[in-house]
Amino acid sequence: MSGRRLRRVAVALDTDDRETFGRWCSLFGPRVGVLKVGPRVFLRWGRTAVEEAAGTGAEVFLDLKFHDIPSTVAGAVGAARELGVSYLTVHSGGGRRMMEAAVEAAGGEIRVLAITVLTHLAAEDLEELDLPGRPGTRALGWAAAAERSGCSGVVCSPLELASLRERLGPDFLLVSPGIRFEDSGGDDQRRVATPAAALRSGADLMVIGRPLTRAADPEAVLAALAAAGA
Ligand code: C5P
Repeated sequence: MSGRRLRRVAVALDTDDRETFGRWCSLFGPRVGVLKVGPRVFLRWGRTAVEEAAGTGAEVFLDLKFHDIPSTVAGAVGAARELGVSYLTVHSGGGRRMMEAAVEAAGGEIRVLAITVLTHLAAEDLEELDLPGRPGTRALGWAAAAERSGCSGVVCSPLELASLRERLGPDFLLVSPGIRFEDSGGDDQRRVATPAAALRSGADLMVIGRPLTRAADPEAVLAALAAAGA
């Protein structure tokens, strides 16, 4: 097993089983740029999980999606800084002062990414929440607020990449989950695109979970990602 490290891929290590987590770290860590640790793993194994992921040579993305008053978020970001992660997430809905507090607490050591509109949400979900506008319009507004707050980038649906790239310029990081191959079955993700389309539209980093971690042949999926230019 070999191949170049796929810098534009972040593998979402979402599992309840410690052994599986370790196996995914060894399998994907040397092959991709970033390993993503979310709440499911972090709440169980915390610091040791982050250390194991970092030990593979990949950067670690701590995806706990902070959304609280600015001082609480700043304290959480300070703790993440001690862990030595490279990326973390906050919700842009927490507002400008919350995002600014996160960026300041990151001290230039962690790239703060703002979540815009989660990729399982469609227009009717926003309507139910009494949030006017389509997901794309809302994502654009929230991404612009994140940029003004000093965030390094945003997490958005692949369908919003092109308009965000146009509006926010080449240096703002666009990180996109909701990546699916043409033949993958349906799950809870709704605003999705293929890896090639996401990269064409300007994704800096694609967050990919189940299409890799549940694949019968992960090597074949890594090869397909490499072929797509990841
Ligand atoms: O398995 P799948 O490819 O759907 O994994 C996507 C990952 O990206 C999950 O860990 C999920 O929590 C995360 N994510 C997302 N949508 C966002 C932000 C993060 O799906 N807007």
